[in-house]
Amino acid sequence: MAYPWYSYLSLLILIASSSMVANGSNFYNDFDITWGDGRGKMINNGQLLTLSLDKASGSGFQSKNEYLFGKIDMQLKLVPGNSAGTVTAYYLSSQGPTHDEIDYEFLGNLTGEPYILHTNVFSQGKGNREQQFYLWFDPTADFHTYSILWNPQRIVFSVDGTPIREFKNAESVGVAYPKNQAMRIYSSLWNADDWATQGGRVKTDWSHAPFTASYRNFNADASCIWSSGKSSCSSNNKNNGGGSKSWINEALDATSQARMKWVQKNYMIYNYCTDTKRFPQGFPPECAMNKNS
Ligand SMILES: *[C@@H]1O[C@H](CO)[C@@H](O)[C@H](O)[C@H]1NC(C)=O
Repeated sequence: MAYPWYSYLSLLILIASSSMVANGSNFYNDFDITWGDGRGKMINNGQLLTLSLDKASGSGFQSKNEYLFGKIDMQLKLVPGNSAGTVTAYYLSSQGPTHDEIDYEFLGNLTGEPYILHTNVFSQGKGNREQQFYLWFDPTADFHTYSILWNPQRIVFSVDGTPIREFKNAESVGVAYPKNQAMRIYSSLWNADDWATQGGRVKTDWSHAPFTASYRNFNADASCIWSSGKSSCSSNNKNNGGGSKSWINEALDATSQARMKWVQKNYMIYNYCTDTKRFPQGFPPECAMNKNS
């Protein structure tokens, strides 16, 4: 039977487009909007999630699952224009007073002025490990990928595949490391004009509200996933350390280290590990291990 060539072509296009839909992340499967009274939305069949903030409220979402170690990517497009006073937080956290946490926070600014990307790591309830950066692009013009690699040896923050910060396991020098508590993914858009922009000097201009941040292409490769109190860990999973390329033992190669050094040299604006005023008695012990020189 001879069908004209274009009927095969349209069949191919149909197959290609349906597999794209199947492979794309779907926020309905992995996340719940948890607050904001309709200000958080999953749209385009779950391909896109948006959070918004107005004078009455912000909004937020969280993952259905909890993760214990993983490589987690999310694309974010931040509040454009005059975003002064707004904070978009995107982080992993466990529960309770001795919780672990891995934080990205994006502090908005006046139109044309740079966002600050604020990062922190908590272990056993202790944080105070801030590092802050400017970005080498406008994070409001397009989506960019913000990743967290969390394995037993290290936590690496990466932006579009470029590592910006490494927090190494420093248990050998007495520093607790996040490794026993599963964490959920959280994000929220809220107002913090008492401190966020230029130290609280620039207030939010509510005439620009609602402010909106967008999310897409979530991906998590995790060895153990907790769902309603039950863990499922798969040992022959491609995501669970099988094979030489696995993330469970991933370290930064020479190229990645050089790129991280470039970011830290040119875009890092605060590092607790060099803040002598704050640590007159000497820097926290993990600082020596994380020196990137
Ligand atoms: C906002 O812009 C000012 C001026 O360029 C800069 O000092 C500040 O770090 C920027 N970011 C924030 C969040 O204040």
